[in-house]
Amino acid sequence: KQVTAFAPATVANVSCGFDILGFAIDELGDRVRINLSDNGELKVKEITGDDGRLPVEVDKNTCSVAIQAMLDALGIKQGMDIHLYKGLPLGSGMGSSAASAAAALVAANELLGKPFEKKDLVPFAMEAERIACGAAHADNVAPSILGGFVLIRGYDPLDVVKLPVPDGLYCTLVHPHLELKTADSRSVLRQRISLKESVVQSGNIAGLIAGLFQSDFELISRSLKDVIAEPSRALLIPGFYELREAIRSIGALGSGISGSGPTIFILSKGKDIALKASQESEKVFEKIGLGVDIYVSEV
Ligand code: HSE
Repeated sequence: KQVTAFAPATVANVSCGFDILGFAIDELGDRVRINLSDNGELKVKEITGDDGRLPVEVDKNTCSVAIQAMLDALGIKQGMDIHLYKGLPLGSGMGSSAASAAAALVAANELLGKPFEKKDLVPFAMEAERIACGAAHADNVAPSILGGFVLIRGYDPLDVVKLPVPDGLYCTLVHPHLELKTADSRSVLRQRISLKESVVQSGNIAGLIAGLFQSDFELISRSLKDVIAEPSRALLIPGFYELREAIRSIGALGSGISGSGPTIFILSKGKDIALKASQESEKVFEKIGLGVDIYVSEV
C-alpha cells in the first residue's frame, strides 16, 4: 500500500505576523510518497531535488521526524519507507522544510486510515521545524497543511485559525539565488522590543486580519509593515529596499520578507499588477547582478 501527497510552499510572517501568520502558494511545493513496510522501521529511502544535501537519518529528516511524532502520539510502531521529491529550494524562506513534513504527514495519515484531522497534524510538523531550525514555529507548517491564510493565535496551547482570502489577491514571490538558514536569520533578531514598537506591530497585524475579513485591499496595504524582524533581516537580503521602492509606482499592495528570507513576497490586487511586480523585480535584480526565480500565483 502506498500514498503520495503534495504540500505547498508558504509565506510565513507576512510582514507584521512574526511567527503567527502565513499563507500557502499552491503552485509550488514538495511531494512525498510513503509505502507501508513490515519491518516496523521508518526509513528515508529516497530524496530527489536536493542535490544530496538533506539528511536521510530518521532523527534529522523533517519527514521522518514528523511521522515519528505522529506514531508516538498514536502509541504504535509502523514501518514506512519515505520517498521525498523536493520541488522547493532549501534555505529559501518559502517553507521548504515545512512542506516536506506536511506532505509526509498527510500521506502517512492517509495510509493509517486517517486517525487525525488535518489540523491535528500541525503539532507533529512543528517537531520537524524544531529539528530543522531550532524553533518549533507553526507559521509555515499550518498553512502548508491547511492551505490559505492561517493565524497561530497561540502556541500554548496551540490555537490555529483559518482566515478568509479576498478574491483577486495575488502574490509575486521573488527568490534571489542566495541561501539563508532560518536558524541564522533567527539569530540576528532582537530579543526585546519597546512598548511603542509593540503598539505599532499590534495595530498592523490587527489591520491586516481585518483587511482579509473585509476584502479591504487598502487596509491590507497599509498594514503590511514589520518593525520587529524586517529591520534586522533586510540587511541580509540585497535588493530588498530597492525592490520595495520599485513597486511603489505600480500599485502593488506592499512587500516583505517571506519567512526568514531571502525570498521576498509582493502582494497585489489582481494578476496584472502581480505580473508588473515580477517585471520590476527582474529589473532590480538584474541591476544588482543577482539571479532570481520569480513566481506569480493567486493566493
Ligand atoms: N516565523 C519564522 C521566522 C518563519 O521568521 O523565523 C521561518 O520561515
